[in-house]
Amino acid sequence: MTAQHACMTTDVQPSSALRVELEGASGPVEVAIVRDADGELHAISDVCSHGAVPLSEGEVDGCFIECWLHGSTFDLRTGQPNQLPAVRPVPVYPVSVDGERVLVDVDAPLSFS
Ligand code: FES
Repeated sequence: MTAQHACMTTDVQPSSALRVELEGASGPVEVAIVRDADGELHAISDVCSHGAVPLSEGEVDGCFIECWLHGSTFDLRTGQPNQLPAVRPVPVYPVSVDGERVLVDVDAPLSFS
């Protein structure tokens, strides 16, 4: 599958997140579309790797999003947690903008190994 429409650029304000459900090759994928403090857009799994709650309901601080349940923070650029209790990263997806449309490819998560 290729990049698909996720939302409009105006749907996500700086330092906020929007939950969307996209269709992946293996079924629905919950994605948080996040605009960081500098205005850059990110697409990160909307499922915390610690307790499976939506990251989109957490606070956005700079290039990080904080899980509201136990306070782990995840790097929007890599999906890596940098605060316990989460120890596993969450997937980060390629995001692009076509006019005012935000496009995400949930079948090609970024790799940082
Ligand atoms: S559920 Fe997210 S840190 Fe525990």
